[in-house]
Amino acid sequence: MYNCAIILAAGEGKRMKSSTPKVLHKICGKEMVNVVIDTVKEAKVNDINVIVGRGADKVKDATTNRTVNYSLQDKQLGTGHAVMCAKEFLKGKKGTVAIFTGDAPLITKSTVERLFDFHGSKNYKATILTSIVDNPYGYGRVLRESNQEVCKIVEHKDCTEEEMKINEINSGMYCFDIESLLKSLDKLDNNNAQGEYYLPDVIGILKNEGEKIGALPIPFEETMGINSRVQLSEAEKVMRKRINQMHMDNGVTLIDPDCTYIDIDVEIGNDTIIYPGNVIQGKTVIGENCTIHSNSRIKDSIIDKNVTIQCSTILESKIGEGTTVGPFAYVRPESVIGKSARIGDFVEIKKSTIGDETKVSHLTYIGDAEIGSKCNFGCGTVVVNYDGQKKHKTVIGDNAFIGCNTNLVAPVKVNNNTYIAAGSTITDEVPEGALAIARCKQVNKEGWLEKKGIKK
Ligand code: UD1
Ligand code: CA
Repeated sequence: MYNCAIILAAGEGKRMKSSTPKVLHKICGKEMVNVVIDTVKEAKVNDINVIVGRGADKVKDATTNRTVNYSLQDKQLGTGHAVMCAKEFLKGKKGTVAIFTGDAPLITKSTVERLFDFHGSKNYKATILTSIVDNPYGYGRVLRESNQEVCKIVEHKDCTEEEMKINEINSGMYCFDIESLLKSLDKLDNNNAQGEYYLPDVIGILKNEGEKIGALPIPFEETMGINSRVQLSEAEKVMRKRINQMHMDNGVTLIDPDCTYIDIDVEIGNDTIIYPGNVIQGKTVIGENCTIHSNSRIKDSIIDKNVTIQCSTILESKIGEGTTVGPFAYVRPESVIGKSARIGDFVEIKKSTIGDETKVSHLTYIGDAEIGSKCNFGCGTVVVNYDGQKKHKTVIGDNAFIGCNTNLVAPVKVNNNTYIAAGSTITDEVPEGALAIARCKQVNKEGWLEKKGIKK
């Protein structure tokens, strides 16, 4: 049986009050429309047509590496009209098309699979996913006949007072027999409160033609549509709970899952402990047995096993096995820190590699540098990488001992097995085996206070 899917993502999203198209607002770090696309693909439905309209270019850009087709809906005349724009995509196809919306990202892979199975098992021409809710406000209501069969959907704004009270809602997600859908779309009109072509009207049309309509009720947690920022935050809470549950099931300790913010695609090894207040973003991968103390932000980074991080920010970087970071370290993009290294308090590392077992313990800036292993940076070292116009590179070999309060003025090279005296400003290459001293010699003026008459 041939299966495909359409994802509606052309709407305005007026209620978001945003310059970003609604479906590109992120939930747990991923654009809503991409969450839906990825879920549908996980359920092995790969022929996907995304209906774009409002902010079409932005939506295409954001979804581009996901290999989907696009149809353009240049005027937003309603969800039924949106699907009419996919006629080219559907033409000549025989089988089932599922329709999802880019603003309902909580649908799960297993429900998508169940929807297709349920639809296929009973020869329905259309199947809708519904939810029973306490507060159906704003949603389309599902009308059933006395024999419990679904007969039509009435939009909130078109409801009579009696219909308002119905608490089974249309999720906006369906399966259709492709040929039946195409025929029904031609019969849609816009004689309703919003003057729009409503996709849910297809259900009533098919029913009137004597076709069988299926309805599969699922928890509201999966059908929640996001039209406003408040709903976005509510949906994010649901998603976050799922993500955290999954990590705990995989053997990760979350001290307080209600206060731990992990993006959808993050991977974490077992026996890692995560304290409250952490924000772990993007495609971050954390190994086994790490400890992430409170209030760190880690984005698009790879953290090997046995790493300890305290209250630090790590962006687009790699931290080697057994290394400790923080408190209050800032590791900026394109940095690679080796194994068993130490990046201590108030240390900033930018676009630099740091070798194994090197210690940068306190109050230090390292930028655009390549640093070997087993080096020791004294407190207050500064790599002077910027001359006001250009950034320059600093290269330091293995076993360099950099005294406190050293400036390394780039471009500069410090070879293996070297010492730099505290307080030096290094501008020239330091040869292997040397001690470099680059500061004024100390002068003691004996009896100076007495001469000045200021001795106490
Ligand atoms: C829709 C359903 C409603 C259902 C609810 C579930 C209709 C008429 N109503 O209402 O029965 O209970 O979803 O969340 O379908 N879109 C387009 N082009 C358009 C209009 C909308 O692509 O011309 C897209 C939007 O981007 C959005 C989706 O369709 O992703 C749903 O549109 P929206 O306006 O949010 O519909 P609801 O009022 O929520
Ligand atoms: Ca909606």
